[in-house]
Amino acid sequence: MRLGVFDSGVGGLSVLKSLLHAKLFKEYIYYGDTARVPYGVKDKETIIKFSLEALDFFKEKKVDMLIIACNTVSAYALEILKKQAPFPVLGVIEAGVLAVKNTLKNKNSKILVIATKATVDSHAYKQALLKEDFLQVEEKATGLFVPMVEEGIFKGSFLNSAFEYYFNDLDFNPDALILACTHFPLIADSLGEYFGENTKLIHSGEAIALQLQQEFKLMSIQEEASVKFYASSDVKNLKKIAKLWL
Ligand code: DGL
Repeated sequence: MRLGVFDSGVGGLSVLKSLLHAKLFKEYIYYGDTARVPYGVKDKETIIKFSLEALDFFKEKKVDMLIIACNTVSAYALEILKKQAPFPVLGVIEAGVLAVKNTLKNKNSKILVIATKATVDSHAYKQALLKEDFLQVEEKATGLFVPMVEEGIFKGSFLNSAFEYYFNDLDFNPDALILACTHFPLIADSLGEYFGENTKLIHSGEAIALQLQQEFKLMSIQEEASVKFYASSDVKNLKKIAKLWL
């Protein structure tokens, strides 16, 4: 099976990494819209337009299934992509919520969702979690983490200052922290240290790999997978980052 993985840029490599680790597909086509990243500060119409253009790319590549690694695209364009694609399309939000259900047994658990401004403004996570009766959900836009990760800042005092900036007014310690942006798994260790061991971290990549195993009954395969990388700008840089992150 040939799997397409779409992201606004390089961040979706964190999702690709989990998928490669789970060994569920033989072929992967990764496409990052690096010419137009970030999507997380754009409006709904623009996000949908760019996502439909990406869909045309994956149609040409004849993928069997498409994973939307980008939370922002999952929040705004998933339904239209599902309608227009000739193959199954999965976003990361449903998978993330499934992972929360698997992790937290108490519906009164406190959940913090960190994401781009666009994802937070959509309230897609909050609504999906409310449907599952998780009532204590706070969403926070932490957009500065995106360029920091792209600069290769995964730990240290600069990142800790950003944690202080965003989280010092939080009046609760979350039971679960949803890393609702492709870039955030790369700072998961630092976030884990900041919030402490009582906060469970929910990672989109791991969540989607689990969903594919649980709901789609996909099993690990032994064969070595092939991965092809495409980008709307500077594919060399995407490949360089892929070497570093994967
Ligand atoms: N890929 C985006 C997401 O997961 C983060 C980067 C962007 O803003 O495009 O929401």
